[in-house]
Amino acid sequence: MVQVLNLSLIFFCVILQINAQKVNVCKKFINYYLKSPQVCYYNPDQNTEVPDIVTRLGYPIESYNVTTEDNYILTVFRLPQPGAKPIFLQHGIALSAICFVDTLESSLAFVLYDAGYDVWIGNFRGNRYSNKHVTLDPNTEEYWNFSFHEMGKFDLKAQLGLVYNETGKKIYYVGYSMGTTASYIYNILHPEDASEKLDIIVSLAPIVYMKNIPSSVAQIAPLWPLIEPLVTKLTHGVILQRSNVSINLIKTLCLGNLFEMFACQALIQSLFGYDNDQLNPETLPVTMVQNMEAISTKTISHYVQFILYGKFSYFKFNEETNKQIYGNAIPPLYNISSLNVPIYLMYGSNDFFSTIKNVDKFFNELPEDTKQNGKYLVQLKKFNHADFITAKDIKSLVYDPLIKFLNNSILQS
Ligand SMILES: *[C@@H]1O[C@H](CO)[C@@H](O)[C@H](O)[C@H]1NC(C)=O
Ligand SMILES: *[C@@H]1O[C@H](CO)[C@@H](O)[C@H](O)[C@H]1NC(C)=O
Ligand SMILES: *[C@@H]1O[C@H](CO)[C@@H](O)[C@H](O)[C@H]1NC(C)=O
Ligand SMILES: *[C@@H]1O[C@H](CO)[C@@H](O)[C@H](O)[C@H]1NC(C)=O
Ligand SMILES: *[C@@H]1O[C@H](CO)[C@@H](O)[C@H](O)[C@H]1NC(C)=O
Ligand SMILES: *[C@@H]1O[C@H](CO)[C@@H](O)[C@H](O)[C@H]1NC(C)=O
Repeated sequence: MVQVLNLSLIFFCVILQINAQKVNVCKKFINYYLKSPQVCYYNPDQNTEVPDIVTRLGYPIESYNVTTEDNYILTVFRLPQPGAKPIFLQHGIALSAICFVDTLESSLAFVLYDAGYDVWIGNFRGNRYSNKHVTLDPNTEEYWNFSFHEMGKFDLKAQLGLVYNETGKKIYYVGYSMGTTASYIYNILHPEDASEKLDIIVSLAPIVYMKNIPSSVAQIAPLWPLIEPLVTKLTHGVILQRSNVSINLIKTLCLGNLFEMFACQALIQSLFGYDNDQLNPETLPVTMVQNMEAISTKTISHYVQFILYGKFSYFKFNEETNKQIYGNAIPPLYNISSLNVPIYLMYGSNDFFSTIKNVDKFFNELPEDTKQNGKYLVQLKKFNHADFITAKDIKSLVYDPLIKFLNNSILQS
């Protein structure tokens, strides 16, 4: 009798073990205890790339390459709907185009495609899809010598030029987080180009002013300038690069069991804002693995300057270099008054990076003719920074209102 019990126990454990390897997502958090095959399954999106995911979910996909004026080679994806209004999505820091397709049918790219748009998705320099350069080796400090300034100045100019040339139509721009910062820099540095090519800039979690943000990064920010030179030397200017080691580390430390899942989320939410309610059990193991991408140390330095000085300013070098580059010991501010594309801000009450106060300050400084559309506060008290791409109810909370706005837009042409 004991033998039989033992045997069946071993058998049960073997089954669980097999399941543990095959199954990677469950419909509810509680299901992660047993990972029973009725409510858990293997989602390949955790381990594949943008074209695989898009195809798997039944949508068409195309890839384009474009070279920037400073010779970075970028990939732009498209879910083509020729003749329809083009919409261009641009990801934030530590992300790639995959963040717009990795939450099953509620992913922004699919929701927009279903609403009848020709969907284009950009990739900033340095991520896994845009990691080539005509002459520079990506394993050098020279390659990683950029912040979101260059992403706005060069990457957006090239990518939007591509979309405009291919479609012959003006574009709706939708940026998230750093994709908003870079869009304002693009518009400020290239006002004619931007007003020729863009109908509107929609900003999800806009980042311009970062004064007094409650994020835990604000506590670390003052230390960053002290350690940055050493970090840059040791890492040739890039951290969080994707590798099988880093991916397996996340799977082992943050997705191994329910306790780990919530422990890692607690850490992450100290950065983004606390909101366990909107964690999506079915896509969390996918987004945790996929939404992680290299960050140049210069990008961190530039945002740290935003946090420490509270200004929307060009990159601050040392005094001598500032004089050389800007003709002044202090770097200039980006001129918000020279924005000339209409802007629509969508923001959350519990966003530790993009606070209501800082969004309001930016909105108040916008030129009158760019802010006629007003702004939209997401109707959920706990809505945080990450929720804009991963929230369980993202479609009803943000994407449906976004499409309603775009559909009704007087700019529709
Ligand atoms: C884009 O560039 C990559 C890498 O250089 C290459 O593998 C791919 O075939 C190119 N795609 C297109 C559409 O040219
Ligand atoms: C990075 O660019 C700045 C100017 O933008 C230049 O002064 C500096 O020498 C560059 N550093 C490297 C490592 O290329
Ligand atoms: C778009 O077309 C213009 C005019 O022909 C050309 O100058 C530009 O380089 C093109 N841009 C891209 C990204 O293809
Ligand atoms: C990483 O793992 C994948 C599949 O798991 C494999 O195809 C790839 O070669 C590995 N890459 C490296 C650098 O080991
Ligand atoms: C900022 O842009 C506005 C509008 O183009 C212009 O009137 C103003 O002089 C600019 N300010 C600076 C400091 O360049
Ligand atoms: C937007 O327009 C598309 C196409 O006309 C339509 O299918 C969709 O339901 C509309 N969505 C909203 C929220 O108005």
